[in-house]
Amino acid sequence: MNERVTTITMDIVESIRDVLRKHDVTFSEYRAGIMHLARTQGDGEIPLLVDVFFNSTIVEIENRARKGSKAAIQGPYFVPDVPHVNGELAIEASAKDLPKMVMRGKITDQDGKPVAGAVIDVWHSTPQGTYSGIEKHGDLDKKYYRGKISTDANGRYECKSILPVAYQIPNKGPTGMLLEEYMGGHSWRPAHIHYWVQADGKRDLISQAYFEGGEHIEDDCCNGGGTDFMVPEKYEGDVRVMEVDFVLDEAVASLEAAE
Ligand code: DHB
Ligand code: FE
Repeated sequence: MNERVTTITMDIVESIRDVLRKHDVTFSEYRAGIMHLARTQGDGEIPLLVDVFFNSTIVEIENRARKGSKAAIQGPYFVPDVPHVNGELAIEASAKDLPKMVMRGKITDQDGKPVAGAVIDVWHSTPQGTYSGIEKHGDLDKKYYRGKISTDANGRYECKSILPVAYQIPNKGPTGMLLEEYMGGHSWRPAHIHYWVQADGKRDLISQAYFEGGEHIEDDCCNGGGTDFMVPEKYEGDVRVMEVDFVLDEAVASLEAAE
């Protein structure tokens, strides 16, 4: 096994031992902890639990090396190979009258030059606070509320949709129990838009945007970056304007090779 794996594994074990000692954890408390992990495994929630608490930390580490826009957590609901869209994401017939938004902005490089032909995957929740293309969310056709959009010659993009809503992570299982009962918190995320920006020769950027005035921006159960990613409240008529610019870093050769 490589040395880094050994070092990190030993550090994780030692930090857990420190917590057990610090709190004089008893044998029955220890058994209860094991049962909680077993339930998390049984319910298939290990990835959820780990992501809720630690994805934001990995993003924080990644961001130390970024000179341009900072990255945000990806969340579990990205779906690859969705269609390119032109100006508007697909909206269900039943949602046509709901409040609208327009996502727009400019993508530039480290020198401030526009990045033409960048591809941005955008995805956001349904009006019910679920995601399309996800079996556990009812398998709504993945064309809805998602799409790839491209920047024009000036590095600009623009695309309409309806407003996403606040999202509650699955809270009936062991992860919800940990957040709500054991930690006295809640299991809500603010309404948000996801972005995954890709351009030739540039480092990929996964980001999110939150809506000024929305709930749970500063007490996001997933520590999603809070006001750093909040977009000021602005309307054109009754359409909410989500203006988000991205500054891309140059591609990192060692990362490309690893992927
Ligand atoms: C989760 C869901 C999201 O939509 C998101 O952006 C982040 C996390 C989740 O269920 O863990
Ligand atoms: Fe999300």
